[in-house]
Amino acid sequence: MSDIELLKERFHNSNNIKDDYVFNIDKDIKKEFFVKRKEVENIQSKLLEFFEIGKRQHLLIYGGVGTGKTKLLKYILDDAHTVYNFKVHFINCRNYNTSYQVMKKIIGEQKKLPADIMFQKFQLCLGKSQKRISNPKIEKKDKEIKIIVLDEVDLLKDDTIFYNITRDEEFSDVLLIMITNKQYFYDNILTNDVKSSLQYQLIVFDAYNATEIIDILLKRCEHGLHNYDKSVVNYIAGINTKLHNSDVRVGIKTCEEIFRKKDFSKISKDELESCMMLERIKIKNDIIKSLTDNKLILLLLIHDISSSDPERICRSNKLYPRYKLEGYDVAKSYFFQYLNELEKLDLLYLIQRREKRSNVLEVHLKLEEENIEKLKEIIKAKGY
Ligand SMILES: Nc1ncnc2c1ncn2[C@@H]1O[C@H](COP(=O)(O)OP(=O)(O)OP(=O)(O)O)[C@@H](O)[C@H]1O
Ligand SMILES: [Mg+2]
Repeated sequence: MSDIELLKERFHNSNNIKDDYVFNIDKDIKKEFFVKRKEVENIQSKLLEFFEIGKRQHLLIYGGVGTGKTKLLKYILDDAHTVYNFKVHFINCRNYNTSYQVMKKIIGEQKKLPADIMFQKFQLCLGKSQKRISNPKIEKKDKEIKIIVLDEVDLLKDDTIFYNITRDEEFSDVLLIMITNKQYFYDNILTNDVKSSLQYQLIVFDAYNATEIIDILLKRCEHGLHNYDKSVVNYIAGINTKLHNSDVRVGIKTCEEIFRKKDFSKISKDELESCMMLERIKIKNDIIKSLTDNKLILLLLIHDISSSDPERICRSNKLYPRYKLEGYDVAKSYFFQYLNELEKLDLLYLIQRREKRSNVLEVHLKLEEENIEKLKEIIKAKGY
């Protein structure tokens, strides 16, 4: 037997993973491990109404972290593509956070243009009349349907795009789907004006319960593993709901870790729980690794200030001047925006307090000791 054959045999004797893709939480959902939740049908029926009878209703999908908003919508749209012809612009507002940038991205413009010219180009690209001029075969009944998905829409700094799309007849073939995990987005941010012209339907993704998480995990195990233990999966799902906010990413990664070796049977409940904790830490470490320097420094400052505070609280009125002293002399609006972005990534949470007639934010980190260690390590490696 050749060397590689020997290794191959040893590999298959110990390795229990059949398909690695199944446990990659960043990859799209495949049919084999898709688990339907009732809101999916709700979205599909809204799409059908639009495709079939031209009834357009914009959608706002709201739900907590890891409830499947992004990946399920992608799945639904891919599935709809097998029957209908339409164009999707799937944009994450973390990367394109102004209406101007969103329009620039949609039309594929490279140059910086004055706002009115950009809007004209946007109108030409998505509006109805231009299509009929350039393609006389397109009749009124043959609409060229466009769907714009704005994921993490609460990070958008202005609402011009909503006005543009809803007020202008030219865009009546354009459907908007917004995704957010911030309740304040539809409670406070969207002005009544926009709310009334958008006429969106709110679709809420509740946190998964243990039974739903079991379904999701079992399907993944079935397709991704040679062997697994159902009772262990049930237990993981239970802990996932109780201790990890029903963020199903933690459960998926734990299944991979627990079952990756063929001798998984001897695992105790304590080991399982610490494994889940470790997976959660790893998920957060990966998020930390992807942060830009200004956000890394901000996180470290929050940690430093709260560690030296007698009540272990970091307040924004203390944090902002310290942040500027570190060389990040940004306007207050940017500073608050960074905090919001970090909150969205589930790395901290903010509480608004009224102090001496002004509003102050309390900033609380949602990081474990190991995450702080990682943060320090990254900052050190960058030479700060
Ligand atoms: N119903 C489901 N079927 C299969 N996989 C699912 C389902 N729901 C969630 N998942 C998986 O859970 C993970 C988290 O989903 P997703 O990224 O879509 O969450 P999200 O709601 O967009 O979270 P965030 O608010 O952080 O953006 C993904 O790996 C996704 O594949
Ligand atoms: Mg998402």
